Parts: sequence; C-alpha cells; structure tokens
Amino acid sequence: MKIKEALFLKSTAEVSHCPPPTKPEYAFIGRSNVGKSSLINMITGEKKLAKTSSTPGKTQLINHFLINNEWYLVDLPGYGFAKVPLSEKAKWEKMTWEYLRNRPNLLYVFVLIDIRIPPQKIDLAFVDQLGEEGIPFKLIFTKADKVKKLEGQRNIDAFRMAMAEKWAILPEFFITSSDTAIGRKEVLDLISEINSVAKS
Ligand code: GTP
Ligand code: MG
Repeated sequence: MKIKEALFLKSTAEVSHCPPPTKPEYAFIGRSNVGKSSLINMITGEKKLAKTSSTPGKTQLINHFLINNEWYLVDLPGYGFAKVPLSEKAKWEKMTWEYLRNRPNLLYVFVLIDIRIPPQKIDLAFVDQLGEEGIPFKLIFTKADKVKKLEGQRNIDAFRMAMAEKWAILPEFFITSSDTAIGRKEVLDLISEINSVAKS
C-alpha cells in the first residue's frame, strides 16, 4: 500500500469522542517506550506525525490518524511505566479497555513488544486479557535494529512459547524497526488485505 496522505485527526480520553466509526481502524498498544508513536511515524513515512520521546509516558490520550482517507491508525498510551501513580494507572486501564472493548470499527490491535528483552509478565498478561475478551490482535516486535538477529529470534521464540502455555493458536507476528523501516511493507500489506476484506 502506498501512503498518499496521513493526517492527525484528534486526541481524546473517551471512546465516545473518537472520530465516527465509519472506517477500518487499527491500534498500536504496548509498554511505555516500546516504540508505538515511532512506529506510526515509520509506517506513515512522516517523521513528526506522532509525538515520540525517550522518556516513557509521552502519549497520554487516544490519538486518531486518518490514512489515505480510508482507514484509521490509533496511537495509545503505554502501560507498565513504573513511575506512574496508581490513580493514573487506573485511569489508563479504564480508558484503554473501554476503547478496546467498545470501538466498533477496531479491526485489529497490534501489541508491540520490545524484541531486545525476554518475555515480560505485563505483556503476557495483556495479550492474555485480549485473548480472553476475544479482541483480535497481532504482535509486533520493535527495535529490531538494536539487537543481534539470533538474540531477537530467541526472545520471540520465548514469548511465543510462554503464550503457548495457555493458547492453542498463536497470533501472527511482525518484526520492525522504526530506524531502518524493516517490517513496514509487511504490516501495510496486512492492513491492506484486511481493509479489502472489510470492504467486501
Ligand atoms: P509512550 O508514548 O511513552 O508510551 O512511548 P512509545 O511506545 O510511543 O515510544 P516512542 O515511539 O515515543 O519511542 C520511545 C523511544 O524509543 C524513543 O527514544 C525512540 O526514538 C526509540 N525508538 C522507538 N522505536 C525504535 C526503533 O525501532 N529503533 C530504535 N533504535 N529506537 C526506537
Ligand atoms: Mg507514544
């Protein structure tokens, strides 16, 4: 898919205030600092579209981007940032799960996982909950430029093995780098495929 246009539409804390649910939607979620906003910029080819930061906790609201006037890409705040007070954490959980459960046009959630580290409990708990609630998702392993291929593969295998303890079917996964743009085509091809199925 060629990206002809990528527009920031709005930031909101409530699912009822999101843009009209009339187009296919995909959301990026994952731990704080895993690279969600960077990946939005890499995928759209617009370096400053989504705000990124080396300090965790940059994205705080539900951010909608309109791509090719055809589908929405959504940047969500990250979970698991240790320094966040409990009240903030509760707010995140309420906002995010309300969005994930109630957004009617949300076709897939992409859960971003840092390829550099072994499986983290918080990521496994998050994908388990998605599975339990029947929310369709794929995995994206981020920051591939920062790890040796073999080590990255080992972490991916370990994550999938940990998931396999509970789930019979494992989600499809992608490997990306926002620095080198690897994985861009694969993610866009999938979105394009789902968009055409949604249209038919
Ligand atoms: P929050 O909004 O705080 O939840 O974070 P986020 O998941 O949106 O992360 P963000 O995109 O802001 O990136 C966090 C940091 O990781 C920034 O310093 C990015 O430059 C860096 N980063 C993100 N993706 C990559 C990548 O693929 N490769 C490398 N080398 N750095 C990356
Ligand atoms: Mg962000």
